[in-house]
Amino acid sequence: MSETRVNAVGTSDLRTAHQDLHSEQGALRGEHPGRSRSPVIKVADLAWLEFQKPDLDRAEVFARDFGFGIAARTAGELWLRGTFAGSPCIVIRKGRTSSFIGPAFRAAERPDLDRLARATGTDVRDADVPGGGRAVNLLDPSGFPVRVVHCREELPALPEQQPLPLNFGTDHRRRNTAQRPPREPSRIQRLGHVVLETRVFGRALDWYLDTLGMIVSDFLFLDGQRDRGPTMAFLRCDRGGLAVDHHTLAMHLGPGNGYVHSAYQVTDLDSIAAGGEYLNERGYKRSWGIGRHILGSQLFDYWRDPDRLLLEHFADGDLFSRDLEPGWASMSTSGLAQWGPPATRDFLGASPSPARVRDVIQALRGDNEMDPARLLGLLKAANS
Ligand SMILES: [Fe+2]
Repeated sequence: MSETRVNAVGTSDLRTAHQDLHSEQGALRGEHPGRSRSPVIKVADLAWLEFQKPDLDRAEVFARDFGFGIAARTAGELWLRGTFAGSPCIVIRKGRTSSFIGPAFRAAERPDLDRLARATGTDVRDADVPGGGRAVNLLDPSGFPVRVVHCREELPALPEQQPLPLNFGTDHRRRNTAQRPPREPSRIQRLGHVVLETRVFGRALDWYLDTLGMIVSDFLFLDGQRDRGPTMAFLRCDRGGLAVDHHTLAMHLGPGNGYVHSAYQVTDLDSIAAGGEYLNERGYKRSWGIGRHILGSQLFDYWRDPDRLLLEHFADGDLFSRDLEPGWASMSTSGLAQWGPPATRDFLGASPSPARVRDVIQALRGDNEMDPARLLGLLKAANS
């Protein structure tokens, strides 16, 4: 098949470097450009994720074992942090059930909040964060509460877990010293990304591009259904020439609206592996890992918390400036990793549960972007 490669946004300064850098193909003529011409604002990063859980003591035990520090703890809130200076990674509020509430994004500057509030017909409020700050509270098209925040204070940096000095071939950085990494929890540095499933992928995608100014690093489409548009996108923040994480938000079409996983950076592969052994010894369940992803290239290891929420340790991810245009590839399980064990059914969410069956029935009956052809396409992707 002959395919015409076009520059996705019609400008000449974007690089068409997918072959070497991330995925195999660029856009075809007329496909989604992957960025908005004039977004309301451009968020600078994910700030933190909000969860609720009934038992904050239990949540704190897992958080420490996974490698978080505690930024603040009250009767009703647990704020978790990494070692890097900046905002906390997670707030867990005491609630009836264990669930994801929504993401908070960091505004690049305080006036962005006013611009965003005006454009969305809402107002700027107190952010309810330790140290104080301001926030605009929105709902995305999937129904997730999304906050855009500007914090008054940054958390100071904490001591780092040092990367191990490695010997490579004849490049010897370690002599007369043994390699003895301590068996201890990984030390989380920062929040990296969150992945969400949505029944209204196309609407949600455009909302994040138009409202928050995010840009697409990679699109995935269902095999044989490329003409119906993408069904997954990896979104990064647009910081101009500054290279940032390949994705801070990833979204895919599915029968449910929900949290898939969130990812936290640690220093290196040894931190992932030794931290994983520590979690294993304490009886936590590894979902999938250790391996190296294709899109984003991260070294990864996925774990279930005691409430079965999925969290990822990662290291060595790709950093892209705004100069790269989106890659396009077909969605498949084999496309998830360059190396590592096969993706597990647990990670893929492929084991049927009553809740999942209910999701499928509701999605096929409702007014959304799921239909039988797409459902079959998703099932095929999960087995390919
Ligand atoms: Fe991830």
